[in-house]
Amino acid sequence: MSSYREKSIVFIGFMGSGKTTIGEQVAKKLYRDFVDIDEEIEKEYGMPVIDIFKVHGEEAFRSKEKELIKGYCERPLKIISVGGGAFMNEEIREVCLQNCIVFFLDLSFNAWKERLTLLLPSRPVLQGKSIEEIEELFYKRQGIYADHNSKFTTDHLDIDEVSDYLIKSLKT
Ligand code: S3P
Repeated sequence: MSSYREKSIVFIGFMGSGKTTIGEQVAKKLYRDFVDIDEEIEKEYGMPVIDIFKVHGEEAFRSKEKELIKGYCERPLKIISVGGGAFMNEEIREVCLQNCIVFFLDLSFNAWKERLTLLLPSRPVLQGKSIEEIEELFYKRQGIYADHNSKFTTDHLDIDEVSDYLIKSLKT
């Protein structure tokens, strides 16, 4: 962790786990640029993620996601929020873990469920799935996120507290 001054920091975790909110706050506190990969993809396609999936397909989205993450990870000193599906890709995992400090924002399924209604309209991966299918996806992904990374629980999300705690952990 001591080399955080030379590295970019990547936030991973399930959809709606607070990657963008906390990432932005950490970026402010460390005086760094913040990059939200989904936002960058949306800018490139000129449409929201849900429409990119509909018009261009998930494969096109994933390929752009990989290209952008690789590019940003190799540049130092950014704070990067990546979509919840990104870390399912082995190449992305490798590039992030080799070049950056990776933080997994963890939360319980119960806490996450409270955010579902808010997330549903904009998240293509959740469309048409039953709650049981979503829960299965949640646990499958949590296992992969948790496998390699520093983990921070965000069930009771206080943005200031979590970001301060996280910055402190970088410095120790
Ligand atoms: C996805 C998560 C989304 C976005 C896209 C796919 C996923 O990002 O990249 O809808 O597969 O989990 P957030 O994690 O920021 O919601």
